[in-house]
Amino acid sequence: MTTAPRAAIEASRARSVCAAVVGLQWGDEGKGKIVDRLAAEHDVVVRYNGGANAGHSVVVGGERYALHLVPSGVLHPGCRAVIGNGVVVDPERLLEEIASLSAKGVDVSRLYVSDRAHVVLPYHKAEDGLREDLLKAGRVGVRVGAGVSQEIGTTRRGIGPAYADKVTRATGIRVADLLRPDALRPKLDIACRMKNALFEGLAAAEKLEWRRFDPAELESQALDWGKKLAPMITDTTQLLHEAIGRGERVLFEGANATLLDVDHGTYPFVTSSNSSLAGVASGSGVPGHWMGRVTGVMKAYSTRVGAGPMPTQLDDATGDRIRERGREYGTTTGRPRRVGWLDLVAVRYSAMVSGVSEIALMLLDVLAGLDELKVCTAYRIDGQITDIFPPDGTSLESVEPIYETLPGFDDSVADSRADGDLPPNAAAYARFVADYVGVPVTTVSVGPEREQTVMLRREGAPA
Ligand code: GDP
Ligand code: IMO
Ligand code: MG
Repeated sequence: MTTAPRAAIEASRARSVCAAVVGLQWGDEGKGKIVDRLAAEHDVVVRYNGGANAGHSVVVGGERYALHLVPSGVLHPGCRAVIGNGVVVDPERLLEEIASLSAKGVDVSRLYVSDRAHVVLPYHKAEDGLREDLLKAGRVGVRVGAGVSQEIGTTRRGIGPAYADKVTRATGIRVADLLRPDALRPKLDIACRMKNALFEGLAAAEKLEWRRFDPAELESQALDWGKKLAPMITDTTQLLHEAIGRGERVLFEGANATLLDVDHGTYPFVTSSNSSLAGVASGSGVPGHWMGRVTGVMKAYSTRVGAGPMPTQLDDATGDRIRERGREYGTTTGRPRRVGWLDLVAVRYSAMVSGVSEIALMLLDVLAGLDELKVCTAYRIDGQITDIFPPDGTSLESVEPIYETLPGFDDSVADSRADGDLPPNAAAYARFVADYVGVPVTTVSVGPEREQTVMLRREGAPA
């Protein structure tokens, strides 16, 4: 028999065991590496938002693992991995990911999936693609900057349509429904009728390809997923509260990043969930104020994949050099990432919104060998200088970055393993970030491997 935790676990007790990791830019900051590292000192790792749009690359002993739906903590034997209610789960991809992790010898028997997480169905992916194709065709484009219409540049993983169905309710299918044939079929019947009518109308307007979805076919596919996932499906909110009540250490892993948050990011060029710290509470059922330690993960420069403004973007040889050295190609879609100088105005905004208590500064080795490094510390907007970030895709289009120039450092940065090892200019770069953002940099990453990490001691940093 499981026991209900006392109505109120004391917040101070919960704070001593709960921690979160969030991205501070537009994704791909190296969250997977940091979660993998922190997972060693946690009992449970929880994904609370996003879906298979995320791509977290973790390198262990020369082997590269690409995680999309499974929390990065799974690579630590003994660590339980939880996919919370705020995630949109594509069962097809999840089962593929589980199979590929198992084939590499990873123990996936401690993976749990929320019964209340929503399911990404094949028609969500079709809708995502069709909407993007229509936006690309320009007839229903989002207006940005000088009036150019363009697509969002989604991962086409069905994320937006799945969250939209969750919010519109009647056609939303939850993971628990995969185990309830009686509830599932009527939902699929109505969903297919609505989607087919929508696709037919939209596609006809632009003569785009589309295919009709058949509820009977989807039902048998979905029940098969249910059978395979059944042992993992549970009330993860209850699971987490019981774990916290027992004093187990729980790590919340943000997918995507704060500037892609649907409310706080560069809307409309964002994802469809709260990918900042705000998503923890709604996406897991664990109160946000229980997070004792919040690690904000940032790159030493900026990247962005997909559309939307990025004030410090570099379309030159320096940008190409950073892209190649940083292997800046999407883990999920393989798209080349846009690259730019570090934008501290944006990072400080994200650190504020996500309430970070410490910073992990990643991929510092990628900047090695450049004589000078530019860092954006203010924007010029309509002739006015400001260091306040306008969190809106359209306003951000017209900002001009204002840079400070810092001296570069050499390749020896990649050999650093302890605080004193960093070349002085690399240490100064990390200090500049901490001083500007007002949050200590406690970790500097100088390569993809677990051990290519330097822990810094800074006043005010959590122990
Ligand atoms: P995430 O989505 O935030 O987990 O980040 P991704 O995995 O999509 O992208 C980060 C990439 O950088 C991955 O390929 C990592 O292996 C790699 N990486 C992480 N930290 C470092 C680092 O300090 N230096 C270098 N060169 N690569 C790193
Ligand atoms: P991780 O967790 C980088 C971007 C997409 C697109 C926009 C909307 O690996 O950091 P979506 O498919 O979510 O509707 O796409 O958001 N995006 C990401 N970019 N890293 C991610 O995740 C992302 N998740 C979504 O490229 O611009
Ligand atoms: Mg990624």
